[in-house]
Amino acid sequence: MLLKVENLTKRFGGLVAVSDVSFGIERGEIIGIFGPNGSGKTTLLNLLAGLLPPSTGRVVWKGENIAGARPNVIASRGVIKTFQNPQLFSELSVFEHVMIASFLAFTRIKDHSRLSSFLAPGKGEAVLRARAEKALTLCRLQGASEKSAAELSYGEEKMLGVAMAMMCEPELLLLDEPASGLGNDEIHNLENVLRDLRAHGTTLCIIDHKVAFLAKFADQAIALQQGCKIAQGRPNDVLADPAVVKAYLGRSHHA
Ligand SMILES: Nc1ncnc2c1ncn2[C@@H]1O[C@H](COP(=O)(O)OP(=O)(O)OP(=O)(O)O)[C@@H](O)[C@H]1O
Ligand SMILES: [Mg+2]
Repeated sequence: MLLKVENLTKRFGGLVAVSDVSFGIERGEIIGIFGPNGSGKTTLLNLLAGLLPPSTGRVVWKGENIAGARPNVIASRGVIKTFQNPQLFSELSVFEHVMIASFLAFTRIKDHSRLSSFLAPGKGEAVLRARAEKALTLCRLQGASEKSAAELSYGEEKMLGVAMAMMCEPELLLLDEPASGLGNDEIHNLENVLRDLRAHGTTLCIIDHKVAFLAKFADQAIALQQGCKIAQGRPNDVLADPAVVKAYLGRSHHA
């Protein structure tokens, strides 16, 4: 098991945003987490990425509890979160953005075996450029490499956010609503990118409230309601679960 989440709880004052949630992620799988607005999805991802400390519970990454560790420490272990809307510099090109992300990766990486791949004499820049080209190709942005951020469509901006995260070579990539605000063609493109990222060896944890989007390619789905896990399993089984139907419709057909 790559990641084990054990009895994770996050309280904000009297509100329990994430309530005693447990699940595991195997290497190479795509896990989809869905739930209505305010069900705790973003809070859960933030706990995994170290952007918030949990109130109680454990986040066990490769056998080590990383709950409460700082985000740069968690990122250096290989767990990276993308933001719903990446902050871009309008006058810089797509290629320059991914190169900037590599410097962020560089400052995060304290592990000497990984650092040496950057610092090999004379090879540093070539390694980074090759990595940038690979990230842009994976995210279907190779043709937009010289465009400035100001010229990008919303869908391209979001893909650039994913490409920037890929520069950190995540083992587990956490995506917060990657499909939100995208048109049908862009969603189709995103689905192909996500499949390619998995084929590349990246484990993915994706949150979204578009259940149909996740059901198409996730290996495992988890449904949240008011911070609690109400169902887990294969996406179609979870969608058919009476507790999930009830949560989405507000009440069951028989109520
Ligand atoms: N920093 C915070 N302080 C206080 N309450 C918070 C904080 N962050 C989230 N909450 C509350 O925790 C609950 C879960 O919020 P969260 O953003 O995790 O939900 P979500 O499932 O991501 O919702 P959405 O689908 O709207 O993005 C909500 O009631 C929210 O108001
Ligand atoms: Mg959210």
